[in-house]
Amino acid sequence: MAGEKNIETTGLLGWIDARFPLTSTWKAHVSEYYAPKNFNFWYIFGSLAMLVLVIQIVTGIFLVMHYKPDAAKAFESVEYIMREVPGGWLIRYMHSTGASMFFIVVYLHMLRGLFYGSYRKPRELVWIFGVAIFLCLMAEAFFGYLLPWGQMSYWGAQVIVNLFAAIPLIGPDLAIWIRGDYVVSDATLNRFFALHVIAIPLVLIGLVVAHIVALHEVGSNNPDGIEIKAKKDKNGVPLDGVPFHPYYTVHDIFGVAMFLIVFAAIVFFAPEMGGYFLEYNNFIPADPLKTPAHIAPVWYFTPFYSMLRAITDDYTWVLAGLSVLGAIGLLLRSNLRGVWRIAVPVVLVVLAVLLRVLDAKFWGVVAMGGAVVLLFFLPWLDHCPVRSIRYRPGWHKVLYGIFIINFLILGYLGTQPPSPVFNIMAQAGTLIYLGFFLLMPYWSCRGTFKPVPERVTYKPH
Ligand code: HEM
Repeated sequence: MAGEKNIETTGLLGWIDARFPLTSTWKAHVSEYYAPKNFNFWYIFGSLAMLVLVIQIVTGIFLVMHYKPDAAKAFESVEYIMREVPGGWLIRYMHSTGASMFFIVVYLHMLRGLFYGSYRKPRELVWIFGVAIFLCLMAEAFFGYLLPWGQMSYWGAQVIVNLFAAIPLIGPDLAIWIRGDYVVSDATLNRFFALHVIAIPLVLIGLVVAHIVALHEVGSNNPDGIEIKAKKDKNGVPLDGVPFHPYYTVHDIFGVAMFLIVFAAIVFFAPEMGGYFLEYNNFIPADPLKTPAHIAPVWYFTPFYSMLRAITDDYTWVLAGLSVLGAIGLLLRSNLRGVWRIAVPVVLVVLAVLLRVLDAKFWGVVAMGGAVVLLFFLPWLDHCPVRSIRYRPGWHKVLYGIFIINFLILGYLGTQPPSPVFNIMAQAGTLIYLGFFLLMPYWSCRGTFKPVPERVTYKPH
């Protein structure tokens, strides 16, 4: 087993080590885990995500001590926490700010993976566990948002659960099964509470463990996208590796300090963040008889919400037309071989027909869900000969830039009431988002790539 040499055999530690792999685990995952020496600030977000997970669990436990999962008492119990429970306001604001900060940190963490090709072989499973974590995080945030039982909690849940009703055949029954009622009600609140406080957190913790175990099996990638295990010294230590402890523990503690300054500033001075972290409508108790004029999810869902709204009946004509054009293009000129040469164009034509036959609302749900599910396939969509963005052609960088700006614009549009101009922008944005990934096998291998150095580039500072 890794690190079995030099293990203490006397004293308390020796006693424990004879019965439990404490020192060997510490060595394998911390003091003798060799990470590339060229990590930059983008590599802080994994540790920060773990920190936020701990903050959410600890503050969540204290909130549950006073919260009442009952439609008649939930809103009041949150007000009670805010006004009467000593320090309750702090715990609640830490939890609500933590939710938004979780998404900021995780979005940046994913972006780093995208930049440096961290999802590529042999890290496919690290990435897949990551996307599963992201899905769980979305579910966790969605279930949690119903709990304060404010107007946005209620109507947001109503809108999202109704989406499932758009699925052909099983949809309406499925929506009732999820709600436990014909509308969002006390039964819905109770089950969302159970899912939010125990079921999803358990899955989330399990996935985070799997994510780290998978990462430590293959070793970390780095900003150069070079495999440091390819060059080792006579003891088997990578020449470009440094022990995680103390080098990156110190690096991460610095990151944590910076993060906590920002986190505390928000918690103490701007917990509502202009209505982005806590929506104003959610300070009004849920009223099943009064629909708010404008229902918008919290900011971290809005890019996907925009894609959902973008798919209108008219727009399915455009999408069907593009599918047919794609099929013709592939038939005339394609690198696909064997059965794929015919199968892919046929699937595209069938898709074009279904786009017009099935309800546009259903395709909105497919676009929204597909936007996340596509991420699972990223390791196989990217055919680039180099891993890191550093060695890609300039125009690849431009594409990444467009992708990021487009995602931010979609996020903004999702916060706004629908309008004809915004709808067209969201439709174009949805195409750009989906096109970036779906056309990746085509564009990622094209262009002039810079030579990748043999060893990582590193300047001591
Ligand atoms: C609760 C959420 C998460 C936690 C606690 C977490 C934790 C970590 C940690 C501690 C690392 C090693 C340090 C680092 O490279 O930053 C890491 C690496 C990584 N994570 Fe996550 N992660 C989370 C979510 C995600 C998500 C949503 C994705 C992608 C969809 C993802 C993809 C990756 C990848 C590809 C690596 C390897 C990066 C490399 O070696 O370059 N993670 N994660």
